[in-house]
Amino acid sequence: MKVGIVKKLVAIAAASVIAIGMVGCGNSTKGNKENTSSNASALQAIKSKGKLVIGTSADYPPYEFHKEIDGKDQIVGFDIEIAKEMAKDLGVELEIKDMAFDGLLVALQSDKIDMVFAGMTPTDERKQNADFSDIYYNATHRFVLRSGDEAGITKMEDLKGKKIGVQKGSIQEGIAKDNFDAANIKSLDKVTDLILDLKNNKVDAVLAEQPVAKINVEKNEGIAIADKLEITDPNGGSAVAMKKGSADLLEQVNKTIKRLKDEDKINQFVVDVNKLVD
Ligand code: ARG
Repeated sequence: MKVGIVKKLVAIAAASVIAIGMVGCGNSTKGNKENTSSNASALQAIKSKGKLVIGTSADYPPYEFHKEIDGKDQIVGFDIEIAKEMAKDLGVELEIKDMAFDGLLVALQSDKIDMVFAGMTPTDERKQNADFSDIYYNATHRFVLRSGDEAGITKMEDLKGKKIGVQKGSIQEGIAKDNFDAANIKSLDKVTDLILDLKNNKVDAVLAEQPVAKINVEKNEGIAIADKLEITDPNGGSAVAMKKGSADLLEQVNKTIKRLKDEDKINQFVVDVNKLVD
């Protein structure tokens, strides 16, 4: 089923597989070209400071999460593996800043970070404030529920009246707002806190990308995926965000992504980091 019209998921929620679209806003051809001159040496700037500073929200295994290694708290994940390759190709060191997902694009605009690696989906709204690389990873979205509730949830309507937990500023928050009353939506900075809230009966469902839902269910007792309800997004997927107008940097980033895809490294990173989740 192809859904041309945006946001009103309710209209098509009768089907158990739902396609959400972010197209149709008429400005998708508005490219980066017109901005190329303003900041043409973003690549050079990173090279001369000798380090690539990325921002992430490390609450999203297997994309990025905290892990104690040799007694030290570290941020790991397949996004981080990609960022390491990015730094390597740039010939610089990698520095990671962990922050609220909601604050990442602001940090980018105020030059606190050079790039966002956070499983971030390039939406039309975000594209007004940042340039995005090619998509490097695709996933559907799933609700995580308390075990036993999953049999009864086959369509969006089955979640009406329930408390839905989403990450603040995420596209999942947008999906929730399009489908449920504001009073029934709880937005938090960290997905890890949403999972705790689910276990403690403070929310009834948490919406996240499928790999995140899956890992959390595997690692936590008492929660399950609503496996009869899948939300697909033909315009979704994860991309690297950069400051607008950094054409040279964008080109370099896409080159590394292409290399990693050609070498089938990204899927391998996903497998590798899955083993790190406690
Ligand atoms: N893909 C979703 C978005 O772009 C959620 C990403 C959440 N990422 C994270 N590191 N917590 O809104």
